[in-house]
Amino acid sequence: MDFKALTASTLGDYLRTLPSIQAQLGDMEALDIVEVGDGNLNFVYFVSSRAQPERSIVVKQALPYVRLVGEDWPLTRHRADREAHALRRFAALCPQHVPVVFHADSAQSLIAMQHLREHLILRKGLISGVVYPQLADHLSTYLAQTLFHGSDLYLDADVKKQAVASTINSELCKITEDLIFTYPFEDHPSNLYSKALPRAAIERLHQPRVRLAAAQMKWAFMNQAETLLHGDLHTGSVMVNQTGTYVIDPEFAYYGPIGFDVGLLLANFLTAYLSQDWQRVQAGQSAVPYQAWLLEQVSGVWTGFADQFLALWAGHEAQATTGFMGSGRDAQSLALYRQAFMRRLFSDTLGFAACELARRTLGMAQVAEIAAIPDAQARALIEIRTLHLAEQLLLQREHIGDIAAVLELARQAQALDGVAA
Ligand SMILES: Nc1ncnc2c1ncn2[C@@H]1O[C@H](COP(=O)(O)OP(=O)(O)OP(=O)(O)O)[C@@H](O)[C@H]1O
Ligand SMILES: [Mg+2]
Repeated sequence: MDFKALTASTLGDYLRTLPSIQAQLGDMEALDIVEVGDGNLNFVYFVSSRAQPERSIVVKQALPYVRLVGEDWPLTRHRADREAHALRRFAALCPQHVPVVFHADSAQSLIAMQHLREHLILRKGLISGVVYPQLADHLSTYLAQTLFHGSDLYLDADVKKQAVASTINSELCKITEDLIFTYPFEDHPSNLYSKALPRAAIERLHQPRVRLAAAQMKWAFMNQAETLLHGDLHTGSVMVNQTGTYVIDPEFAYYGPIGFDVGLLLANFLTAYLSQDWQRVQAGQSAVPYQAWLLEQVSGVWTGFADQFLALWAGHEAQATTGFMGSGRDAQSLALYRQAFMRRLFSDTLGFAACELARRTLGMAQVAEIAAIPDAQARALIEIRTLHLAEQLLLQREHIGDIAAVLELARQAQALDGVAA
């Protein structure tokens, strides 16, 4: 069937032809279909059976343009193939944290998946000050499982190279290259920020040493084909409740540097941390306890990820005949290599986190915890802090010893009350 942009009124007829959807929804004679309406790129529908409303699915369709902008921003539908492939791959590696795909149709650029009815977008939960007891544990497990098993530490070299070739996603990578690594570090017309943000705060990101660091991170993003990444792992791509955590929306998936997913996620916990002064005080609460919890998530995600990644690596090598360094079991060389590997991964993570902090402050893809603050002065102060932290992480990424030092830099940024000279 030729591609057709479906709507809430035409989607039902399409779904009724599919046994895999019938198995999920049961009685499909009458369906309730609503477009969710909050995706930037795609159309997302909740579909339920009127006779059995507890049975429901989510359908996502990519059109050949960006939903939020319309036909003025064309974008091929290739992203739906990338998303379907990545959802299936990540679900195979970490089923407890990835929605099940029931049906994927490449010709229609459409995916039908598990409806996470009892889960909320994490960014919204963090704005409301909700504590999720198992969050760091779940997210670090997801990161370790997906990032380790896509890499040369696990896959055969040939399989991995084929995977790199078959997951090329150049259009969406270009969006990241521009929006995360380029525009925040220059005066780009698409940049957006509080009208009260002092020019001096923006210009700190134009310093040659900062632009050098951003260009180095961009190069790493474009050339370090280390593992299959989610590619857009911010807190709007995570759905949560008190007991469960799911990662959705991997349409930016491609083979890139391991630290990219980790760094993006940490940066979004840091924007949440640095905006709590506003969020909690608006809710009539002290910001202090929730900020402490958010910093625990930053350290818990990094430490949990690093520990599990190393454990997967050691476990795999213990039962393989040939390890990455060969068949000799030279414990000292192995330990040295693992230490150097994790050291570089940590620096990469911090560099990517810094670029994400910069783009979430100055770039066009804004985050609600900052952009929705109506008081221009209050918003500008938070922007000064996120930009300060971005600059410190970029410049110091190769010298910061451990995650505790990152938390200390975050606390120093939080204490700022204006732009540093
Ligand atoms: N499996 C799901 N279960 C429940 N809700 C979902 C599911 N998938 C998506 N949603 C809802 O639909 C919204 C948009 O989905 P998604 O982020 O995948 O779309 P997108 O167009 O790719 O958006 P983005 O601008 O983030 O790229 C999510 O924020 C979430 O509220
Ligand atoms: Mg998306």
